[in-house]
Amino acid sequence: MKILMVCLGNICRSPLAHGVMQHLVEQQGLGWHIDSAGTGGWHVGAPPDHRAIAVARRHGIDISGQRAQQLQPHHLNSFDHIFAMDRSNLRNLLAMADTPAQRARIRLFLDDREVPDPYYEDDLFESVFQMVEARCQEWIELLKRTK
Ligand code: 4NP
Repeated sequence: MKILMVCLGNICRSPLAHGVMQHLVEQQGLGWHIDSAGTGGWHVGAPPDHRAIAVARRHGIDISGQRAQQLQPHHLNSFDHIFAMDRSNLRNLLAMADTPAQRARIRLFLDDREVPDPYYEDDLFESVFQMVEARCQEWIELLKRTK
């Protein structure tokens, strides 16, 4: 199973979703491959935002080794599930997809809600972490059944 988490900058939300999912997958010995990317390229090569690193660390997860990458068309073929953090990310992903098979792999991480962008709001990092962690646990249970 290969899962890609996608947000705008790949320095706040998707690195948290990537790190939490990887942590849970490793805990359960699932051997799934987890990665993340941003629809924008401004932060390519950079580590996650220091506030994302800090909130993950407070919860026992080290995401400091991640480096931002920009979403590329080939990602749409090399992952089984591609999760968009918000509707703008979802639109950008769907615009990049050109086959029904690619579109079928793309969806909102939270189904009918968005993960709020914490970049300009320090206070949001903790609640973003909480919603990401809860949803990662749900996705693992759902995806284990569809394997
Ligand atoms: P992210 O947050 O999409 O969760 O990584 C953002 C990071 C950077 C910017 C916007 C959102 N930015 O405009 O640089």
